[in-house]
This record gives sequence, C-alpha cells and structure tokens, in this order.
Amino acid sequence: MFIVSPDIERYIQNLTESMSFDNDILLQMEDYAKQINFPIVGRQVGVLLYIFTKLKKPKLVVEMGSGYGYSAYWFAKALDDGKVVLIDFQQKNIDMAKQYFEKAGLLDKAEFRVGDALEIAKEYKNIDILFLDLEKIKYFEAIKVMEENLSKDGLVIADNVLWYGNVVLEETDRKTKAIKDFNEYMFRSGKFVSQIVPLRDGVLIGLRI
Ligand SMILES: C[S@@+](CC[C@H](N)C(=O)[O-])C[C@H]1O[C@@H](n2cnc3c(N)ncnc32)[C@H](O)[C@@H]1O
Repeated sequence: MFIVSPDIERYIQNLTESMSFDNDILLQMEDYAKQINFPIVGRQVGVLLYIFTKLKKPKLVVEMGSGYGYSAYWFAKALDDGKVVLIDFQQKNIDMAKQYFEKAGLLDKAEFRVGDALEIAKEYKNIDILFLDLEKIKYFEAIKVMEENLSKDGLVIADNVLWYGNVVLEETDRKTKAIKDFNEYMFRSGKFVSQIVPLRDGVLIGLRI
C-alpha cells in the first residue's frame, strides 16, 4: 500500500535532492544503503530531522537504532551545541558511523554506544529529542521506558509509524500491532501532543506535555 502516491513521492524527492547540503558524505551513505539494502530514513525524512533540530536547539538527542549513522548525521549537522547519542546493537554499524562522522568533521557532536538501545538509552536524562528507529516490535516498550527521561517539551520522533500502510488493516501481525499500540499511546495517553506526518513511511512527532 502506498502512503504517498509514487508521482508525489518522486516530486518531493526531486525537490529535496535539489537542495544543496554537504552532498559528498550524504551520497556515500545513501549509496551504501542502496548497495546493501539498508533501511535508512532517507533524505526526505533526514531534512525533517534537520528542521526540527534547528527549531528545537536540543542539548541532547538520543537515537534508539542508529544503523551506520545516516539519521544521526542530520541531527548532528543541525546541532548548534549539544550532542547526539547513537545507539545500535551492531558494532560494525557504530564503527562505520564513527568513520562517516570523522570524514564529516562531526565527531565532537556525537557519542557512540553499542548495545541494546532499551538498556543504554535509560542512562540519559533530560533528552530534548528522542528518535525511535529500532526494531518496530519494541516501539511501545521504548516509549514506556523512556518517557520520564524526556526534558520538558521534549520531542519524540518515530519513523515507520504507518508501516507500509499496514496500520489500517484489521488483521495485523505482531510488529504492526506494536506500532499501532505505540501510535495510540502517543495520541491518547494525555502525555503527548502528537501528529503523524505521512512522509515516506510515516513519521510521528510527539511533544511531551
Ligand atoms: C532502521 S535501522 C536504523 C537506520 C537509521 N536510523 C538511519 O536512518 O540511518 C534500525 C537499526 O536499529 C538497530 N536496532 C534494532 N533494534 C535495536 C535495539 N533494541 N537496540 C539497539 N539497536 C537496535 C539495528 O541494528 C539497525 O541498525
């Protein structure tokens, strides 16, 4: 199921690619994702992360599920001061992220952690932006574990919350159920003001209140 029609998707993608960022490193990271079929957030969502970071001016961004650092690159690029914490349970991903960050001159804006994001992220308090892109089945658990660690007016940004459109189906698998539980919690718990931006696979933005 398409979230955005292919023509509109292409239109947004072309406009997005026509903006000039530090294209060398971004292109290298995007090419690598294509080569190994790795699910990075992509440039459309990357730019959204950049804009939210510029507006929010966070001191602390924590990513749960960083891969080899593509989404973290957008956060780091937009940070004035402060840092982004990258967490992934694959050492290889974090090693690659370090290499890309070094090439981009962004090492001083990042902390790199290997292990289970559900355990490691808990160590951080007063998180201004919490980014969820770990295994989808853990989204609901992640927000329950982390909601008290957000700063006042902290933002939660979660990728893939429309899960290829599966969230509207009556019969769902466990992963889709976990995403639906997460979405419902973010809208109905009274703890967040949330909205879903139907860009790419759906990005939820939740403001802690
Ligand atoms: C979708 S990819 C992340 C892509 C990345 N956010 C980006 O856009 O560049 C998901 C990553 O989360 C990691 N991951 C999944 N569950 C995790 C967990 N519980 N703890 C740590 N890392 C996890 C996987 O190893 C994988 O690299």
